Amino acid sequence: MNNRGISRRDFMRRTAGATLAGGSLIVDPGPLASASARPVAPSDTIRFGIIGVGMQGSGLLGTSIRLPGVECVAACDLYDGRQELAKEIVGKPIPVTRRYHELLDNKEIDCLIAAVPDHWHKQVVVDACSAGKDIYCEKPMTHHVPEGFEIIAAEKANNRIVQIGSQRRSSIIYAKAKELYEQGAIGELCLVEAAMGRNDPCGAWQYTVPPDLSPSTVDWETWLGTAPKLPFDPLRWTRWRCFQDYGEGIPGDLYVHLLTGIHYATGITAPPARALAAGGLFRWKDGRDVPDVLTTLYEYPKFRATLRVTLNTETPEFTRLMGDRGTIEIHDETVTFTPQDGLDHEPCTPGWPRQMKADYAEHWFGEHEPKPQTQSPVESTTFSGPPGYDEDREHLWNYFQSVRTRRPSVEDGTFGNNTAIACHMANASYFAKSVAAWDAAGMKIKT
Ligand SMILES: NC(=O)c1ccc[n+]([C@@H]2O[C@H](COP(=O)([O-])OP(=O)(O)OC[C@H]3O[C@@H](n4cnc5c(N)ncnc54)[C@H](O)[C@@H]3O)[C@@H](O)[C@H]2O)c1
Repeated sequence: MNNRGISRRDFMRRTAGATLAGGSLIVDPGPLASASARPVAPSDTIRFGIIGVGMQGSGLLGTSIRLPGVECVAACDLYDGRQELAKEIVGKPIPVTRRYHELLDNKEIDCLIAAVPDHWHKQVVVDACSAGKDIYCEKPMTHHVPEGFEIIAAEKANNRIVQIGSQRRSSIIYAKAKELYEQGAIGELCLVEAAMGRNDPCGAWQYTVPPDLSPSTVDWETWLGTAPKLPFDPLRWTRWRCFQDYGEGIPGDLYVHLLTGIHYATGITAPPARALAAGGLFRWKDGRDVPDVLTTLYEYPKFRATLRVTLNTETPEFTRLMGDRGTIEIHDETVTFTPQDGLDHEPCTPGWPRQMKADYAEHWFGEHEPKPQTQSPVESTTFSGPPGYDEDREHLWNYFQSVRTRRPSVEDGTFGNNTAIACHMANASYFAKSVAAWDAAGMKIKT
């Protein structure tokens, strides 16, 4: 036993699936590592089409076509420059279009990836499911709460694979955190803290407008979709995250990753009961209508969670699960378990006279272990991903495997909906300046 009451040998034995490397532990690679070693029969090749080839879509495209047995056969984007980019990435001629329905009708396409702005997610996913196509859709799953239930209905009615693109759901680091948590390593979980901070214009979504962007190179009317009609606005097209008409600000862009990790690791299967958010727009007063600092306290049935994101100060990102037996802390590609025993290590006699204190101490140390000066230092164990580990690849691989084998999606509409609702609750609370409660029966947020 170490001083924190947990047998180290026992702990090491229970953390199967990890190997020792130079004092820290490397988590076993995910399923993709072993799959990559096997050739894929041409008949098993998955042919996908991509809708939206912007910042995220271009990355997903480049990663997907390097996966074994995966091929891109068509791309769709409303902006000519992104169609060009899709062809550049694929490196061979593929049909490109501004109309995603052409991909839905294309019998050569087995499944889709969609990386369009958030206000388009619901329509693209529902249309894809209705056309009989599986779809990987970027996070957050929805722009408004009711859309989530429409997506789930379409997914179920058409028996489709829907995978939401919050890659932490496939991360082996979060899987290790989940394993530690479920083993009871930190005892009773009471509080989760998660935070991240940025401090640069790009991090605050001030992306550069492409010089050729104009009503002739982009289909602005279609891009607006169900959002309010406005004249062509290059800044809104490029920096849509800054506007509630298309995105959800900090919650939809960044909380969603933290929440996905928390929901996955702790096994949350419903939205939080309540959220209380506070923040403000302090710095990036460029016409945006969302805050650049947001803190939120969430009430989950068995623990509370505090989330904090700022676009005004760079701070390391972390998620920390805090229990009465220690902490599980995730930083980038590592997870660290630090045990605690939650016990006194000397008599708790504040403000006692000297003799009374000494008498009691003698008695106390006679009955308690360890003896003074015999405690070993608190031991932490850190698990890391293997070199070059990439959770995006893992998440995409899980998607294509679900399409191939019909194994259920690792992040289906229900999982995506729960995290998206938690994001919407933070915004609802912030803008209403009141507590936001999840009304499960009414399927709506109440403020
Ligand atoms: N998982 C992650 O880590 C991650 C990271 C960044 C972005 N995202 C998500 O990816 C999505 C896209 O974000 P982005 O930064 O790439 O945006 P973006 O603006 O760079 O790219 C979106 C592209 O979609 C195209 N588009 C919009 N509506 C369309 C439609 N109806 N049909 C066809 N094309 C359409 C646009 O022309 C644009 O090229 C968002 O939902 C965002 O939240 C996820």
